[in-house]
Amino acid sequence: MRTVVDQGADIGEVLLTEDQIQTRVAELGAAISADMAGRQLTLVSVLKGSLPFMADLMRAISLPVRIDLMEVSSYGGATTESSGLVRILKDLSSSIEGEDILIVEDIIDTGLTLNYLVRYLRGKKPASLRICTLLDKPARRLVEIDVNYTGFTIPDQFVVGYGLDYGELYRNLRYVGVLKPEVYSQA
Ligand code: IMP
Repeated sequence: MRTVVDQGADIGEVLLTEDQIQTRVAELGAAISADMAGRQLTLVSVLKGSLPFMADLMRAISLPVRIDLMEVSSYGGATTESSGLVRILKDLSSSIEGEDILIVEDIIDTGLTLNYLVRYLRGKKPASLRICTLLDKPARRLVEIDVNYTGFTIPDQFVVGYGLDYGELYRNLRYVGVLKPEVYSQA
């Protein structure tokens, strides 16, 4: 495995700047707050990629919110292809029965992960279940998913930053970018 010294130097193209992301997150928070006015929300985030988005989005929502975190795996290590296998690595901490749930996702690619998660969470009998994703790559969808809030629709490119990783790195970049092709070939 290659040691990365300068993460920024591995980025070939910045797809979404920090400003673009922050502006959109504020808009999403305002829309969610208006749509769900008078209610209390439980945000269920999917580790690890959704961490920065969750942290920013929860503060952009003006309603009372609880949060819970799940971790699922859909990729094996430093690969860019979905395996289609979903495993729960960390479950919810408390019951969501009767609660208004908003799933907070980093990216929907094939949709396999979210499809599994939605079915799993529906089984826990929430009052309602909505989905908010920062990024959507519709070109690669294998299962149809009803998404309520989408930050940005992006082309079919593997992206990193603002939570998204390649081989567990690049999550702490403040922007979303595309890696230089040589980064994959040296892996
Ligand atoms: P799906 O099951 O194919 O929709 O994949 C969802 C998960 O795959 C996301 O939550 C990410 O963790 C990961 N993923 C999908 N596309 C990308 C990408 O472009 N960059 C980094 N991770 C990705």
